[in-house]
Amino acid sequence: MAATTMEQLVSLCKRRGFIFQNADIYGGQQGVYDYGPLGVELKNNLKAAWWRAMVYERDDVEGLDAAILTNRKVLKYSGHEDTFSDPMVDCKKCKGRFRADHIKDGKCPNCGASDLTEPRPFNLMFKTQVGPVESAENIGYLRPETAQAIFTQFKNVVDSTSRKLPFGIAQIGKSFRNEITPRNFIFRVREFEQAELEYFVFPGDDEKWHEIWKNERINWWLEQGLSMENIHIYTTPSDDLAHYAKACYDIEYRFPHGMEELEGIANRRDYDLGNHTKAQEEFELEAHCHQNPDSTTKLCIRDDESGKWIVPFVIEPSMGIDRGVLALLTEAYTEEDLGDGNSRVVLKLKKHLAPIKVAIIPLKKNSEEIMAKCHELKNKLMKLGIGRVQLENTGNIGKAYRRHDEVGTPLCLTVDFETIENKPETVTIRDRDTMEQIRVSTDELPAYLREYFL
Ligand code: GLY
Repeated sequence: MAATTMEQLVSLCKRRGFIFQNADIYGGQQGVYDYGPLGVELKNNLKAAWWRAMVYERDDVEGLDAAILTNRKVLKYSGHEDTFSDPMVDCKKCKGRFRADHIKDGKCPNCGASDLTEPRPFNLMFKTQVGPVESAENIGYLRPETAQAIFTQFKNVVDSTSRKLPFGIAQIGKSFRNEITPRNFIFRVREFEQAELEYFVFPGDDEKWHEIWKNERINWWLEQGLSMENIHIYTTPSDDLAHYAKACYDIEYRFPHGMEELEGIANRRDYDLGNHTKAQEEFELEAHCHQNPDSTTKLCIRDDESGKWIVPFVIEPSMGIDRGVLALLTEAYTEEDLGDGNSRVVLKLKKHLAPIKVAIIPLKKNSEEIMAKCHELKNKLMKLGIGRVQLENTGNIGKAYRRHDEVGTPLCLTVDFETIENKPETVTIRDRDTMEQIRVSTDELPAYLREYFL
């Protein structure tokens, strides 16, 4: 089967309402995308699957939903003000600006000129002003990662939940990076969503937990439908690690544009908690810590056995939700030859991720009896808690099947005259992948669908 191309995905996403370019009517805002009616469902389902696995199915993780607007001191002590930058060069001829590592043979990638500036650091954070007065004290940032609020709220979470090591704090939310060259659709964007877990462990246990989380996360992605042949684990060389990391694995995925990072799993050691902690003498901070004069708080935990205060180490599985959506679409997109001279596009998403779970399709749209039955079924089935149930009203059953194949709807229910005439009433259920149809009585439908989806 031919590999899925980015053009196929971009076209499907626009045509069927998954993802649109932001500010499209004004020519588009680069590196910013909006999720349409089906995209929002797919994205929410992916986030729900992550939250279920990270928080509900575990006994050692709490959740958090912190603010996006971030106090400057947080990003000063996290190291982002000083180090969160990409070296970039300007082309003196066409005035284009590019990441230094994207320049080949000393030539501008846009116009080919060799008249380039020396590389200069360009901070990727979006700076803003908090409150009406413009001053250095009032500088704030849109967060570049969700993780920082997990560190700064560490003590509040520990105090309010009485957690002991090891335990984690999970968060899903928007982050922002002023990428110099956003590209590859929703892969490298300026506004994106992250799902991050900070898992706190005893120093010395960090390497063991780093391996455990690597394996947990690979298995989770396989459960979401990615195949192992499209996954690669990259170990970041030590000279390429982020400023906070001791080690990092990337789960890479074979996107249409190449094998690239889908999720990072970093060993952030005690870097962040240590740097946000008020200077104390009771425990030894690592040499890289600032001995923070601005923090009011000790971000530590007392070890019951030794009675000592410990700055925990942290393992961080950090996934990009938008990259997750792109990987799922890439994997699921299938063109099938039907053998009769026709073909179809099928989005073979796992059923828990499918934007629409069930489509109810009337055989004839201008039959009052059939339409009344469709509405009755929709009202009944939407209360099952299985997700979105959609009433199709196009009147062309073949087109409705094609549309729902293309957007990944696992089941189509067709209401026809037999539905009304049969006692007990029955509907046909068509399976997206096999295209097989069975008849099920409407009395048995709720149990059938609960069993299928939940
Ligand atoms: N928290 C890790 C990252 O945003 O890359």
